[in-house]
Amino acid sequence: MTNSQIQFFFLLLIMLFISCKSTKTEVEHDHQSETILLRQPYLQNAYADSVSILWITNKGENTYVKYGKSGEPDTKVYGTVVNEGNKVRSTVTIKDIERGATYFYAIYTDDKLLASGDDYFFRTEPDSDVAKFSFYAMGDIGEPLIKGGFPHITSNQINNLERKPDFGIGLGDIIYPDGESSFADAYLFKPMEPILKNIPFYPALGNHDWHVDPNKNFEKEWKLPNNEHYYSFDYVNAHFIALDTRDGVLYDAENQVQWFEKDLIQAQAKYDWIFVYFHHNGKTCTYKRDYQSVIDLYPLFSKYNVDIVLNGHAHTYERLHPLDASGNVIETYRNNIYDYPLISNGFIQITTGAGGKIKKNWKPYVPGACMKNIVAANAHRGHFSLLKIAGKRLEFQAISSIGGEVLDAFVISK
Ligand SMILES: [Fe+2]
Repeated sequence: MTNSQIQFFFLLLIMLFISCKSTKTEVEHDHQSETILLRQPYLQNAYADSVSILWITNKGENTYVKYGKSGEPDTKVYGTVVNEGNKVRSTVTIKDIERGATYFYAIYTDDKLLASGDDYFFRTEPDSDVAKFSFYAMGDIGEPLIKGGFPHITSNQINNLERKPDFGIGLGDIIYPDGESSFADAYLFKPMEPILKNIPFYPALGNHDWHVDPNKNFEKEWKLPNNEHYYSFDYVNAHFIALDTRDGVLYDAENQVQWFEKDLIQAQAKYDWIFVYFHHNGKTCTYKRDYQSVIDLYPLFSKYNVDIVLNGHAHTYERLHPLDASGNVIETYRNNIYDYPLISNGFIQITTGAGGKIKKNWKPYVPGACMKNIVAANAHRGHFSLLKIAGKRLEFQAISSIGGEVLDAFVISK
Protein backbone atom coordinates (compact mmCIF):
# COMPACT_ATOMS: atom_id res chain seq x y z
CA MET A 1 0.00 0.00 0.00
CA THR A 2 1.45 3.38 -0.99
CA ASN A 3 1.62 6.33 1.36
CA SER A 4 -1.20 8.13 -0.45
CA GLN A 5 -3.33 4.99 -0.25
CA ILE A 6 -2.70 4.78 3.51
CA GLN A 7 -3.58 8.49 3.88
CA PHE A 8 -6.78 7.96 1.88
CA PHE A 9 -7.71 4.95 4.01
CA PHE A 10 -7.26 6.94 7.26
CA LEU A 11 -9.20 9.87 5.84
CA LEU A 12 -12.05 7.49 5.02
CA LEU A 13 -11.99 6.08 8.57
CA ILE A 14 -12.10 9.61 10.07
CA MET A 15 -15.01 10.59 7.80
CA LEU A 16 -16.87 7.41 8.73
CA PHE A 17 -16.30 8.12 12.43
CA ILE A 18 -17.53 11.73 12.09
CA SER A 19 -20.61 10.66 10.15
CA CYS A 20 -21.51 8.00 12.74
CA LYS A 21 -21.04 10.47 15.57
CA SER A 22 -23.19 13.13 13.91
CA THR A 23 -25.97 10.61 13.19
CA LYS A 24 -25.94 9.55 16.83
CA THR A 25 -26.07 13.19 17.98
CA GLU A 26 -29.01 13.86 15.67
CA VAL A 27 -30.84 10.86 17.08
CA GLU A 28 -30.09 12.01 20.62
CA HIS A 29 -31.15 15.50 19.69
CA ASP A 30 -34.36 14.21 18.15
CA HIS A 31 -35.07 12.14 21.24
CA GLN A 32 -34.54 15.18 23.42
CA SER A 33 -36.67 17.47 21.33
CA GLU A 34 -39.60 15.08 20.96
CA THR A 35 -42.17 14.81 23.73
CA ILE A 36 -42.82 11.15 24.43
CA LEU A 37 -45.65 9.69 26.47
CA LEU A 38 -44.06 7.42 29.09
CA ARG A 39 -47.24 6.55 30.96
CA GLN A 40 -50.73 6.53 29.53
CA PRO A 41 -53.29 8.72 31.31
CA TYR A 42 -55.05 7.42 34.42
CA LEU A 43 -58.04 8.77 36.33
CA GLN A 44 -58.07 9.80 39.97
CA ASN A 45 -60.57 11.49 42.31
CA ALA A 46 -63.47 11.21 39.87
CA TYR A 47 -66.70 12.36 41.49
CA ALA A 48 -69.93 14.13 40.65
CA ASP A 49 -68.41 17.32 39.25
CA SER A 50 -64.64 16.83 39.00
CA VAL A 51 -61.94 14.44 37.86
CA SER A 52 -58.14 14.44 37.76
CA ILE A 53 -56.21 13.02 34.80
CA LEU A 54 -52.53 12.14 35.27
CA TRP A 55 -49.82 11.03 32.83
CA ILE A 56 -46.04 11.00 32.44
CA THR A 57 -43.82 12.28 29.61
CA ASN A 58 -40.06 12.47 29.15
CA LYS A 59 -40.16 16.27 29.14
CA GLY A 60 -42.61 19.17 29.04
CA GLU A 61 -43.62 22.38 30.74
CA ASN A 62 -47.05 23.19 29.46
CA THR A 63 -49.74 20.59 29.90
CA TYR A 64 -53.50 20.48 29.26
CA VAL A 65 -56.53 18.33 28.54
CA LYS A 66 -59.29 18.92 26.04
CA TYR A 67 -62.60 17.33 26.95
CA GLY A 68 -66.14 17.22 25.69
CA LYS A 69 -69.16 14.99 25.20
CA SER A 70 -68.41 14.23 21.58
CA GLY A 71 -65.50 12.37 20.05
CA GLU A 72 -63.80 15.69 19.32
CA PRO A 73 -63.21 17.24 22.72
CA ASP A 74 -62.75 21.00 22.65
CA THR A 75 -62.91 22.47 26.17
CA LYS A 76 -59.37 23.16 27.33
CA VAL A 77 -58.16 22.89 30.95
CA TYR A 78 -54.54 23.54 31.91
CA GLY A 79 -52.72 21.48 34.51
CA THR A 80 -49.48 21.40 36.44
CA VAL A 81 -46.23 19.52 35.94
CA VAL A 82 -43.68 18.09 38.31
CA ASN A 83 -40.28 17.63 36.69
CA GLU A 84 -38.31 14.73 38.13
CA GLY A 85 -35.40 15.02 35.69
CA ASN A 86 -35.92 11.97 33.51
CA LYS A 87 -39.70 12.20 33.70
CA VAL A 88 -42.37 14.84 33.94
CA ARG A 89 -45.64 14.14 35.76
CA SER A 90 -48.70 15.99 34.47
CA THR A 91 -51.90 16.48 36.46
CA VAL A 92 -55.00 18.15 35.10
CA THR A 93 -58.08 18.60 37.29
CA ILE A 94 -61.36 19.28 35.53
CA LYS A 95 -64.02 20.93 37.67
CA ASP A 96 -67.67 21.93 37.43
CA ILE A 97 -68.70 19.18 35.08
CA GLU A 98 -72.14 17.69 34.70
CA ARG A 99 -73.42 14.84 36.87
CA GLY A 100 -74.01 11.45 35.32
CA ALA A 101 -72.36 12.30 32.01
CA THR A 102 -69.72 10.64 29.84
CA TYR A 103 -66.92 12.87 28.56
CA PHE A 104 -64.16 12.06 26.11
CA TYR A 105 -60.72 13.58 26.59
CA ALA A 106 -57.41 14.17 24.83
CA ILE A 107 -54.12 14.94 26.58
CA TYR A 108 -51.46 17.40 25.44
CA THR A 109 -48.01 18.31 26.67
CA ASP A 110 -46.23 21.26 25.05
CA ASP A 111 -49.04 21.40 22.47
CA LYS A 112 -48.39 17.86 21.27
CA LEU A 113 -51.44 15.59 21.20
CA LEU A 114 -50.30 12.51 23.15
CA ALA A 115 -53.44 10.39 23.46
CA SER A 116 -57.11 10.54 22.46
CA GLY A 117 -59.82 8.26 21.08
CA ASP A 118 -62.82 6.12 22.04
CA ASP A 119 -61.11 4.57 25.08
CA TYR A 120 -60.19 7.90 26.59
CA PHE A 121 -63.26 8.86 28.57
CA PHE A 122 -64.54 9.41 32.09
CA ARG A 123 -68.01 9.16 33.57
CA THR A 124 -69.17 11.42 36.37
CA GLU A 125 -71.13 10.18 39.35
CA PRO A 126 -74.85 9.98 38.62
CA ASP A 127 -77.68 11.23 40.83
CA SER A 128 -78.14 9.27 44.00
CA ASP A 129 -81.85 8.48 43.83
CA VAL A 130 -82.12 6.28 40.81
CA ALA A 131 -78.62 5.34 39.92
CA LYS A 132 -77.12 1.92 39.68
CA PHE A 133 -73.39 1.59 39.79
CA SER A 134 -70.66 -1.00 40.14
CA PHE A 135 -67.07 -1.17 41.26
CA TYR A 136 -64.32 -3.76 41.16
CA ALA A 137 -62.01 -4.72 44.01
CA MET A 138 -58.73 -6.59 43.87
CA GLY A 139 -55.58 -6.89 45.89
CA ASP A 140 -51.99 -8.02 45.49
CA ILE A 141 -51.72 -6.84 41.95
CA GLY A 142 -48.45 -5.53 40.53
CA GLU A 143 -46.50 -8.75 40.12
CA PRO A 144 -44.07 -8.92 37.18
CA LEU A 145 -45.00 -11.22 34.30
CA ILE A 146 -41.63 -12.96 34.55
CA LYS A 147 -42.61 -14.18 38.02
CA GLY A 148 -45.97 -15.43 36.82
CA GLY A 149 -47.86 -12.22 37.56
CA PHE A 150 -51.18 -11.70 35.75
CA PRO A 151 -52.46 -8.16 36.40
CA HIS A 152 -52.86 -7.78 32.61
CA ILE A 153 -55.17 -10.81 32.48
CA THR A 154 -57.34 -9.57 35.35
CA SER A 155 -57.54 -6.10 33.88
CA ASN A 156 -58.51 -7.52 30.46
CA GLN A 157 -61.31 -9.43 32.13
CA ILE A 158 -62.54 -6.22 33.78
CA ASN A 159 -62.20 -4.38 30.48
CA ASN A 160 -64.37 -6.99 28.78
CA LEU A 161 -67.26 -6.77 31.25
CA GLU A 162 -70.55 -5.93 29.60
CA ARG A 163 -70.70 -2.70 31.56
CA LYS A 164 -67.49 -1.10 32.74
CA PRO A 165 -67.35 -0.61 36.51
CA ASP A 166 -67.57 3.02 37.62
CA PHE A 167 -64.36 2.73 39.62
CA GLY A 168 -61.99 0.23 41.19
CA ILE A 169 -60.43 -0.17 44.62
CA GLY A 170 -57.00 -1.69 45.29
CA LEU A 171 -56.52 -3.74 48.44
CA GLY A 172 -52.82 -3.23 48.98
CA ASP A 173 -49.59 -4.76 47.71
CA ILE A 174 -50.07 -2.64 44.65
CA ILE A 175 -46.50 -3.04 43.39
CA TYR A 176 -44.22 -5.99 44.05
CA PRO A 177 -41.64 -6.74 45.24
CA ASP A 178 -41.14 -3.62 47.34
CA GLY A 179 -43.58 -0.90 46.24
CA GLU A 180 -40.90 0.97 44.28
CA SER A 181 -41.95 3.71 41.89
CA SER A 182 -39.28 2.48 39.49
CA PHE A 183 -41.36 -0.68 38.82
CA ALA A 184 -44.75 1.03 38.78
CA ASP A 185 -44.97 1.24 34.99
CA ALA A 186 -43.78 -2.23 34.09
CA TYR A 187 -45.71 -4.10 36.79
CA LEU A 188 -48.88 -2.09 37.17
CA PHE A 189 -49.61 0.88 34.91
CA LYS A 190 -48.71 -0.88 31.67
CA PRO A 191 -50.63 -4.12 32.32
CA MET A 192 -53.66 -2.21 33.66
CA GLU A 193 -53.51 0.51 31.01
CA PRO A 194 -56.80 -0.45 29.27
CA ILE A 195 -58.83 0.15 32.42
CA LEU A 196 -56.85 2.87 34.19
CA LYS A 197 -57.52 5.35 31.38
CA ASN A 198 -61.29 5.19 31.81
CA ILE A 199 -61.97 3.68 35.26
CA PRO A 200 -60.70 5.62 38.29
CA PHE A 201 -58.69 3.51 40.71
CA TYR A 202 -58.31 4.06 44.46
CA PRO A 203 -55.61 1.89 46.02
CA ALA A 204 -54.81 1.25 49.70
CA LEU A 205 -51.28 0.43 50.89
CA GLY A 206 -50.08 -3.11 51.64
CA ASN A 207 -47.05 -4.41 53.50
CA HIS A 208 -45.02 -4.61 50.28
CA ASP A 209 -45.82 -0.98 49.50
CA TRP A 210 -44.27 -0.18 52.87
CA HIS A 211 -40.91 -1.85 52.10
CA VAL A 212 -39.90 1.54 50.72
CA ASP A 213 -40.88 5.03 51.84
CA PRO A 214 -44.46 5.55 50.57
CA ASN A 215 -43.81 9.27 50.56
CA LYS A 216 -41.28 8.80 47.77
CA ASN A 217 -43.15 6.01 46.01
CA PHE A 218 -46.87 5.29 46.58
CA GLU A 219 -47.79 8.93 47.22
CA LYS A 220 -46.01 10.06 44.05
CA GLU A 221 -48.01 7.69 41.85
CA TRP A 222 -51.52 8.45 43.12
CA LYS A 223 -53.70 11.44 43.79
CA LEU A 224 -56.07 10.33 46.56
CA PRO A 225 -58.20 12.04 49.20
CA ASN A 226 -57.05 13.07 52.71
CA ASN A 227 -53.47 11.93 53.50
CA GLU A 228 -53.63 9.11 50.89
CA HIS A 229 -52.98 6.49 53.62
CA TYR A 230 -56.46 6.58 55.10
CA TYR A 231 -59.21 8.35 53.24
CA SER A 232 -62.84 8.12 52.25
CA PHE A 233 -65.13 9.08 49.42
CA ASP A 234 -68.78 8.75 48.50
CA TYR A 235 -70.41 7.40 45.41
CA VAL A 236 -74.18 7.60 44.88
CA ASN A 237 -75.65 6.04 48.05
CA ALA A 238 -72.48 4.39 49.31
CA HIS A 239 -69.50 5.44 51.40
CA PHE A 240 -66.01 3.99 50.92
CA ILE A 241 -63.24 4.05 53.51
CA ALA A 242 -59.64 2.99 52.80
CA LEU A 243 -57.35 2.22 55.74
CA ASP A 244 -53.62 1.63 55.98
CA THR A 245 -52.72 -1.55 57.90
CA ARG A 246 -49.04 -1.03 57.11
CA ASP A 247 -47.17 -4.27 58.03
CA GLY A 248 -50.08 -5.69 60.01
CA VAL A 249 -50.05 -2.92 62.61
CA LEU A 250 -52.04 0.20 61.68
CA TYR A 251 -50.13 3.18 60.34
CA ASP A 252 -50.48 6.24 62.57
CA ALA A 253 -52.79 4.05 64.65
CA GLU A 254 -54.24 6.45 67.18
CA ASN A 255 -55.06 9.18 64.67
CA GLN A 256 -56.24 6.72 62.05
CA VAL A 257 -58.70 4.97 64.39
CA GLN A 258 -60.02 8.30 65.67
CA TRP A 259 -60.48 9.55 62.13
CA PHE A 260 -62.10 6.25 61.12
CA GLU A 261 -64.73 6.37 63.87
CA LYS A 262 -65.54 10.01 63.15
CA ASP A 263 -65.90 9.21 59.46
CA LEU A 264 -68.16 6.22 60.22
CA ILE A 265 -70.43 8.29 62.47
CA GLN A 266 -71.01 10.80 59.67
CA ALA A 267 -71.43 8.12 57.01
CA GLN A 268 -73.92 5.86 58.71
CA ALA A 269 -76.54 8.57 58.90
CA LYS A 270 -76.18 9.51 55.25
CA TYR A 271 -75.57 6.41 53.16
CA ASP A 272 -77.27 3.09 52.49
CA TRP A 273 -73.97 1.23 52.17
CA ILE A 274 -70.60 1.41 53.88
CA PHE A 275 -67.57 -0.42 52.50
CA VAL A 276 -64.23 -0.51 54.28
CA TYR A 277 -61.09 -1.74 52.55
CA PHE A 278 -57.45 -2.29 53.42
CA HIS A 279 -54.73 -4.91 53.02
CA HIS A 280 -54.50 -7.30 56.00
CA ASN A 281 -57.18 -9.78 57.01
CA GLY A 282 -58.74 -10.11 60.45
CA LYS A 283 -59.87 -13.67 61.12
CA THR A 284 -59.11 -16.09 58.33
CA CYS A 285 -58.74 -19.71 57.29
CA THR A 286 -56.22 -18.91 54.56
CA TYR A 287 -52.49 -19.47 54.99
CA LYS A 288 -52.16 -16.04 56.64
CA ARG A 289 -52.40 -15.53 60.37
CA ASP A 290 -55.21 -13.54 62.01
CA TYR A 291 -54.21 -9.89 62.42
CA GLN A 292 -55.23 -8.56 65.81
CA SER A 293 -55.03 -4.93 64.62
CA VAL A 294 -57.88 -5.69 62.20
CA ILE A 295 -59.85 -7.80 64.72
CA ASP A 296 -59.63 -4.78 67.05
CA LEU A 297 -61.66 -2.84 64.45
CA TYR A 298 -64.52 -5.39 64.42
CA PRO A 299 -66.47 -3.54 67.16
CA LEU A 300 -66.43 -0.39 65.00
CA PHE A 301 -67.49 -2.30 61.85
CA SER A 302 -70.36 -3.79 63.81
CA LYS A 303 -71.44 -0.68 65.74
CA TYR A 304 -71.58 1.53 62.65
CA ASN A 305 -73.13 -1.06 60.33
CA VAL A 306 -70.30 -1.52 57.88
CA ASP A 307 -71.71 -3.85 55.22
CA ILE A 308 -68.64 -5.34 53.60
CA VAL A 309 -64.97 -5.34 54.55
CA LEU A 310 -62.58 -6.10 51.72
CA ASN A 311 -58.94 -7.07 52.13
CA GLY A 312 -56.08 -8.68 50.23
CA HIS A 313 -52.80 -10.12 51.59
CA ALA A 314 -53.63 -13.83 51.13
CA HIS A 315 -53.38 -14.57 47.40
CA THR A 316 -56.67 -16.39 47.20
CA TYR A 317 -60.42 -15.78 47.64
CA GLU A 318 -62.29 -16.28 50.92
CA ARG A 319 -65.69 -15.03 52.10
CA LEU A 320 -66.59 -15.30 55.78
CA HIS A 321 -70.04 -15.68 57.30
CA PRO A 322 -71.36 -12.41 58.75
CA LEU A 323 -69.41 -11.67 61.95
CA ASP A 324 -70.41 -9.71 65.03
CA ALA A 325 -68.38 -7.22 67.09
CA SER A 326 -66.48 -10.04 68.79
CA GLY A 327 -65.70 -11.79 65.53
CA ASN A 328 -68.20 -14.60 66.14
CA VAL A 329 -70.34 -15.89 63.28
CA ILE A 330 -73.92 -14.59 63.51
CA GLU A 331 -75.56 -18.02 63.46
CA THR A 332 -78.81 -16.84 61.82
CA TYR A 333 -76.98 -16.59 58.51
CA ARG A 334 -74.84 -19.71 58.60
CA ASN A 335 -77.18 -21.79 56.48
CA ASN A 336 -78.31 -19.12 54.09
CA ILE A 337 -75.19 -17.83 52.46
CA TYR A 338 -76.43 -16.55 49.11
CA ASP A 339 -79.25 -14.16 49.90
CA TYR A 340 -78.91 -11.90 52.93
CA PRO A 341 -81.38 -9.38 54.31
CA LEU A 342 -80.12 -6.30 56.17
CA ILE A 343 -77.42 -7.61 58.52
CA SER A 344 -77.73 -5.56 61.70
CA ASN A 345 -74.55 -5.07 63.70
CA GLY A 346 -72.68 -7.52 61.54
CA PHE A 347 -70.44 -7.38 58.49
CA ILE A 348 -69.09 -9.67 55.78
CA GLN A 349 -65.31 -9.89 55.50
CA ILE A 350 -63.89 -10.92 52.15
CA THR A 351 -60.31 -11.67 51.15
CA THR A 352 -59.97 -10.90 47.43
CA GLY A 353 -56.20 -11.01 47.10
CA ALA A 354 -55.38 -12.80 43.87
CA GLY A 355 -55.62 -9.95 41.36
CA GLY A 356 -52.06 -10.31 40.13
CA LYS A 357 -50.69 -13.44 41.73
CA ILE A 358 -51.87 -16.68 43.32
CA LYS A 359 -50.41 -18.64 46.23
CA LYS A 360 -48.67 -21.66 44.76
CA ASN A 361 -48.65 -25.16 46.25
CA TRP A 362 -51.46 -24.46 48.65
CA LYS A 363 -55.04 -25.66 48.94
CA PRO A 364 -57.77 -23.85 50.86
CA TYR A 365 -59.93 -25.61 53.45
CA VAL A 366 -63.26 -26.92 52.36
CA PRO A 367 -65.70 -24.44 54.01
CA GLY A 368 -66.56 -25.85 57.43
CA ALA A 369 -63.35 -27.85 57.73
CA CYS A 370 -61.27 -25.02 59.13
CA MET A 371 -61.39 -25.27 62.92
CA LYS A 372 -62.56 -21.65 63.17
CA ASN A 373 -65.64 -22.59 61.13
CA ILE A 374 -66.05 -19.06 59.77
CA VAL A 375 -65.84 -19.54 55.99
CA ALA A 376 -68.96 -19.24 53.82
CA ALA A 377 -67.19 -19.68 50.47
CA ASN A 378 -63.72 -19.78 48.99
CA ALA A 379 -61.92 -20.39 45.69
CA HIS A 380 -58.27 -20.64 44.92
CA ARG A 381 -58.08 -18.83 41.57
CA GLY A 382 -56.80 -15.57 40.12
CA HIS A 383 -59.80 -13.24 40.31
CA PHE A 384 -61.30 -9.86 41.03
CA SER A 385 -64.53 -8.99 42.85
CA LEU A 386 -67.37 -7.07 41.25
CA LEU A 387 -70.01 -5.30 43.35
CA LYS A 388 -73.17 -3.95 41.76
CA ILE A 389 -75.41 -1.61 43.74
CA ALA A 390 -78.97 -0.70 42.82
CA GLY A 391 -80.59 1.26 45.63
CA LYS A 392 -80.80 -1.06 48.61
CA ARG A 393 -79.79 -4.18 46.74
CA LEU A 394 -76.21 -5.35 46.34
CA GLU A 395 -74.97 -8.11 44.06
CA PHE A 396 -71.53 -9.49 44.76
CA GLN A 397 -69.50 -11.69 42.43
CA ALA A 398 -65.97 -13.04 42.56
CA ILE A 399 -64.92 -13.50 38.92
CA SER A 400 -62.09 -15.61 37.55
CA SER A 401 -59.29 -13.68 35.86
CA ILE A 402 -58.81 -16.29 33.16
CA GLY A 403 -62.20 -17.63 32.09
CA GLY A 404 -64.46 -14.95 33.53
CA GLU A 405 -66.50 -17.61 35.40
CA VAL A 406 -68.29 -16.60 38.57
CA LEU A 407 -66.49 -18.26 41.47
CA ASP A 408 -68.81 -17.04 44.21
CA ALA A 409 -71.88 -14.82 44.36
CA PHE A 410 -74.37 -13.50 46.88
CA VAL A 411 -76.86 -10.67 47.28
CA ILE A 412 -77.88 -8.40 50.13
CA SER A 413 -81.34 -6.82 49.96
CA LYS A 414 -81.98 -4.27 52.66
FE1 LIG B 1 -49.39 -8.57 51.70
